[in-house]
Amino acid sequence: MLDVELTIKTENTLKMFEEARKYSPAGVIGDGRWYEPYPLFIKKTLGSRIWDVDDNEFIDYHGSFGPAVLGYNDPQVRQAVFDVMEDEGVLSATPHPKELELTKLLSEIIPCGEMSILCGGGGSDPMYNAVRVARAYTGKTKVLKFEGGYHGWHDYLIVSIRPNLEDAGPADNPTPVANYPGMLQSTVEHVVVAPFNDNEAVERIVEREKDELAAIVVEPGYSGGCPVMRLDFLQLLRELCDKHGIILLFDEVVTGFRTHLGGAGAMLGVTPDLGVFGKAMANGFPIAALTGNKEIMSLFQPEGPVFFQGTYNGQVIGVAAALKTIELLRDGEIHKKLWRLGDKITDELNAMADELEIDARCYNFGSIWGMYFTRKPLENYRDIANMSLLNRDNPKGYAMKNHLMNNGVFVTRSPRGFISGAHSDEEIDRTIDIISDFCRTHQEELR
Ligand SMILES: Cc1ncc(COP(=O)(O)O)c(C=O)c1O
Repeated sequence: MLDVELTIKTENTLKMFEEARKYSPAGVIGDGRWYEPYPLFIKKTLGSRIWDVDDNEFIDYHGSFGPAVLGYNDPQVRQAVFDVMEDEGVLSATPHPKELELTKLLSEIIPCGEMSILCGGGGSDPMYNAVRVARAYTGKTKVLKFEGGYHGWHDYLIVSIRPNLEDAGPADNPTPVANYPGMLQSTVEHVVVAPFNDNEAVERIVEREKDELAAIVVEPGYSGGCPVMRLDFLQLLRELCDKHGIILLFDEVVTGFRTHLGGAGAMLGVTPDLGVFGKAMANGFPIAALTGNKEIMSLFQPEGPVFFQGTYNGQVIGVAAALKTIELLRDGEIHKKLWRLGDKITDELNAMADELEIDARCYNFGSIWGMYFTRKPLENYRDIANMSLLNRDNPKGYAMKNHLMNNGVFVTRSPRGFISGAHSDEEIDRTIDIISDFCRTHQEELR
């Protein structure tokens, strides 16, 4: 069996990990941060690099799960934050000039973004508010999401994010699965689950549920770890929503500001009714936004009746960081570079895989990329789950992760990685060489 051990020095990580386990569950803050044999403790991030507590330096593709679009700790964004703290403080929890500047800017660059609300932390917050306002606007209660799609931590949308296939029903009509203790089963009654990229199934399911469906929630591109999304599928969702009075909600928490200034929806030419942005919006500083047309968004309090509050909403630091990040992304040069580097890594790794005749394929959606050890189509959650492609379960992915770490490239257990504007061509070439070296060394086991 393919087995690569982690050979870098991890003495300090291990010491901290053993201690951290006493003070937080499994020594990490959240399930996504855990990987075998133990997660490295990182002491510094800058540009395209990170350093762990044993002084190992890595070229990074973790990208803090997506926010670091310009590169970690970008000096201009950092300066904008220092400046605003000096000039305006940290938090006023009142309307402020920069908040106006940002909501106005969002309305200029995001096609559906006539009005916005700003939240103070992660993308889960506006996702929650989006579902609430969609229900209020349509007078209906159910939300349709795609199997395997992740849209934040709250109950409505963690249904069927990674269901066991024994519980998940037929592929073309999945059973909603709530397999996390503490969730209310009644939540599940208001969630409809459909297979991604399956036009026929989604048409049938929407037809069945249309009178109760408030919203269809989808990530436009590289959804739920699934690297392929067909444009005609996204266009069909728009048509179905128009036909049946359903809100189309794009979760652009990962794709927004990373693939295109107006979001992946703008790039692909499909405009949702509501769009949620976070992560890359402020290059790592916490802020997230829900945007949409005036008719829907003005339902929020105090203009309308839909509850909306939050002490940290629109906090000055996140707003200042977002304004600077958007300014730096505005001329499109960084996005051009990100697409070029993402395409390069994919093309070269696929040429290498063809040459070695190994069972592997690289995919990218701009700067979001991943190497999958199969050549079978990866169009929905079941294609991925059937092959246990997540590194946690997959010996090949796990071995490659350790090989990369041993050679100074940082990835976590996810097959999905992120390139930033701070990555150089040389770093991409080096990464391609290291992955190619892994594939060459284990050519027989990867066939
Ligand atoms: C597609 C998508 N939507 C929403 C979220 C939730 O964002 P956050 O973790 O910032 O709350 C995530 C987080 O990874 C995500 O990947």
